[in-house]
Amino acid sequence: MAGKIPTQFIDDLLNRIDVVDVINRRVPLKKAGRDFQARCPFHDEKTPSFTVSPQKQFYHCFGCGAHGSAIGFLMEYDNLGFVEAVEELAHFAGLEVPREAGAAQGPDLNPLYAMMEETARFYRHQLKNHADARQAIDYLKARGLSGEIAAIFAIGYAPPGWDNLLSTLGRDKPAIARLLECGLTQEGEGKGYDRFRNRIIFPIRDRRGRSIGFGGRSIGEEKPKYLNSPETLLFHKGRELYGLYEARKASTKIARLLVVEGYMDVVALAQHGILNAVATLGTATTQDHLELIFRTCPEVVFCFDGDRAGRDAAWKALLTGLPLMRDGREVKFLFLPQGEDPDTQIRKEGSSAFSQRIEQAQPLSKFLFQHLTDQVQMESIDGRAKLAQLASPLLEKLPSGVFRRMMFQHLEELVGLKGGHLDKGGQQTSQAVHRRGMGHSEKQQRPTPIRMAIALLLDSPHLFAIAESVENEWQNWDAPGISILKQLLEIIRSQPTLNKAALLERWRDTEHFNHLNKLANYRFDLPDMDQEAELRDALLKLNAQYRKNSRPQPGNLRPSELSDDQLNELKRRYPGTLSQDEQ
Ligand code: UTP
Ligand code: MN
Repeated sequence: MAGKIPTQFIDDLLNRIDVVDVINRRVPLKKAGRDFQARCPFHDEKTPSFTVSPQKQFYHCFGCGAHGSAIGFLMEYDNLGFVEAVEELAHFAGLEVPREAGAAQGPDLNPLYAMMEETARFYRHQLKNHADARQAIDYLKARGLSGEIAAIFAIGYAPPGWDNLLSTLGRDKPAIARLLECGLTQEGEGKGYDRFRNRIIFPIRDRRGRSIGFGGRSIGEEKPKYLNSPETLLFHKGRELYGLYEARKASTKIARLLVVEGYMDVVALAQHGILNAVATLGTATTQDHLELIFRTCPEVVFCFDGDRAGRDAAWKALLTGLPLMRDGREVKFLFLPQGEDPDTQIRKEGSSAFSQRIEQAQPLSKFLFQHLTDQVQMESIDGRAKLAQLASPLLEKLPSGVFRRMMFQHLEELVGLKGGHLDKGGQQTSQAVHRRGMGHSEKQQRPTPIRMAIALLLDSPHLFAIAESVENEWQNWDAPGISILKQLLEIIRSQPTLNKAALLERWRDTEHFNHLNKLANYRFDLPDMDQEAELRDALLKLNAQYRKNSRPQPGNLRPSELSDDQLNELKRRYPGTLSQDEQ
């Protein structure tokens, strides 16, 4: 069990590495004044609005609102968990990640990853060396696969027999337990047995290339045709795509990804030189899948069988994708001839004909309207009204932007309405605007004083001196946020050199993180913003709010009910409000 990563280490780490280096290795940056810029990797844009500040060790996109520390960047860009991102950065800086003793933070997954890796190696070795491997090799050859492709996908072989793996890797009790935990063995009477037996093995790898699950295809007619790893601590079907690691390895600049249904489709396409296919693992496409794809490239083409089931699956994928259709992203649909899958189709017609199909895939807009107009009678008013009724709630799911406007426009044209009546949700409901939040200058609303104070101090910790110079009556107030502000000041007082990135990371594991993260997005570089004055003003306002909310109002209490101290306090605060005889 691994303990928590000490806060001190996170501070050090963020001090040692430079967010500019970290990002520049993934997204080339150009110097622009004190900062660095690039076209934002998180949304599609023509002019760079993605800015990295070496001073704050923070990145920020004025276009889409993405922002954070080097840790946050790796989490978003490389799709890593917090601990993974820290490990990655530590590795980069040549540091070992220390763990606090005591309270454990979830199980240590490293032994499980190691077991999966050892297993993958075992299966590969069996494909080359086992006495029965001949039939597996013949099978792969019969399906047109070369040794080279088999090696790229690390294809292996689970030999017949109940306990090849178990008896080889289950050296001791902990190893046996790990095999079980990884879903590689199953518990039997008295003794466990291998899950995969006499099957071709496809390792499923995460974005970093670690084997996290396996798919096993039967070689003969044995059912089920495919057996997959169960969900484990390492493997979550809804979040993984078979072939993504291999596709990213094949090309650093992927323009689009194809989503296909099967392992063999991915591998057969690769065999024909189409190296950008991924497969969902026997489940429907999830939003997590799509987010994963859009983190790699802006376009996705779903390939389905042209039959009924294929069309239904495509429609489901469309519904899943609607809320993610930010401008610049594209979703397309490719329907193959009935009864074909990409594997059979490309073997029939070769890669250039297949590539043609990809080029001609239907855009989401076309598929959506086609699917709906097929269900109504477009010649009648009633039919067209029905279309509006069917389409509107779907288009409402689109984030605001040019695409959404055009889709509504098209719907209005189709039903014969003029003047933008159908888009009720308006601009504000979209995630894009929501995410932009306070980062967007036109939409920027004045935050409350408490938020303003926190945001300013987070952004510019050196303003601490201003905070110290203002009387801090607000400290006694227990309004929401006050404790965060106090804590923030406390941290800056004891460690004045912490930058914005390190400060924000202090809250990573707390319930307040999301809130602070939003505040960290506030833009203070507006030309007319005098930060010192803003902070002073915010703190004075806090004092006033505190007085107003928590002190007796002069009119409410008769002075005779007050102690002398309270009376003096009142006089000091509200000079002239108490009448002469009461004094
Ligand atoms: P298909 O039945 O379309 O198989 O399943 P396929 O990919 O064309 O397989 P080949 O060409 O006969 O070898 C598509 C996907 O659904 C999942 C697998 O992920 C498979 O790749 N599946 C299918 C299972 O999980 N179990 C099964 O028994 C069948
Ligand atoms: Mn197939």
